[in-house]
Amino acid sequence: MVGISVSPLRDGLPFGIRIGGVTLESAADPAMREQINDLFVRHGVIVFEQVEPSDAMQLALSNIFGPLKEHPVKNVSRVDGDAMPGVVRIHAEAGKGGLVELNGKQLSHWLPWHFDHAYNDELNYAGILRATEIVPEGGLTGFADGIAMYNAFPKDLLARIEGETIIYTLNVQYDTMRFGRPDAFRVLQPKPSPPGFEEEARRMPRALHPAVWTRKTGEKVLHISPWMAEGIVGMENAEGDALLEEVCQTINRLAKELSYFHKWRPTDMMIWDNTRVLHSVTGHDPSVDRTMQRTTIKGDYGLGRFEDNAAGGAILSETTV
Ligand SMILES: [Fe+2]
Repeated sequence: MVGISVSPLRDGLPFGIRIGGVTLESAADPAMREQINDLFVRHGVIVFEQVEPSDAMQLALSNIFGPLKEHPVKNVSRVDGDAMPGVVRIHAEAGKGGLVELNGKQLSHWLPWHFDHAYNDELNYAGILRATEIVPEGGLTGFADGIAMYNAFPKDLLARIEGETIIYTLNVQYDTMRFGRPDAFRVLQPKPSPPGFEEEARRMPRALHPAVWTRKTGEKVLHISPWMAEGIVGMENAEGDALLEEVCQTINRLAKELSYFHKWRPTDMMIWDNTRVLHSVTGHDPSVDRTMQRTTIKGDYGLGRFEDNAAGGAILSETTV
């Protein structure tokens, strides 16, 4: 491709690439856009390196992949108020936010493996993420590919979960996380929620998504978010819970090999396919601030729904999922 460089995310990793040298001008070129989209469909994650660190560049890159979508959770802070619809600012303020202890280390703003909007009937296709305030240590964003995960999953366990449907709720708290809790993990401080948020979230219908789905391109994707998972449809009992826990712990275990953790630089922007790739955040020292900006790109896979075909209500409170 003229003017840009393409290289693996990491040697030996079965997903993800790095693209260097995209500019505001080349992001508008139809041939370039088509080739970048083809690469994205094939590889699932792209790190754009050496790009102009601006909101305009973030929007231009997002626009390569599709129109922006408003975040389903209202009042998530937008950049410059309404001036930048679709750009969400995720600010982790020092001393505030959830605090966990993981392997003896205190971490602020840790997030387990998940896909975004699992609590909703509609998923977003992708998002462009960048760091505008980078922490000196930690704060890495992890990515784990559902196609690689499907291919590597123990076949007997896969046979038991493939074909099942997973139930999700908007439960962002660590202490009530039901599945896939790490070992040596304890909650020191719950995530703050605005008044009424949890009651409002409880009123939302439960969302249902298939454990495995098949892409138009033929690959099967293991697509289970341990975070916010509530159970298996038709198996909300000890046996179903034990199966989902085994599956989520296997995801955690396999993700140790089949993942990439990104250490942010100001000139990086990343995109991941939210219908294929799980992501997580390592957390960071509670005494420092961290700020990320992300866009949300439309393009649902069309397989999610609410339980009993209920209509989803608007969630009016702030969260960062
Ligand atoms: Fe997320």
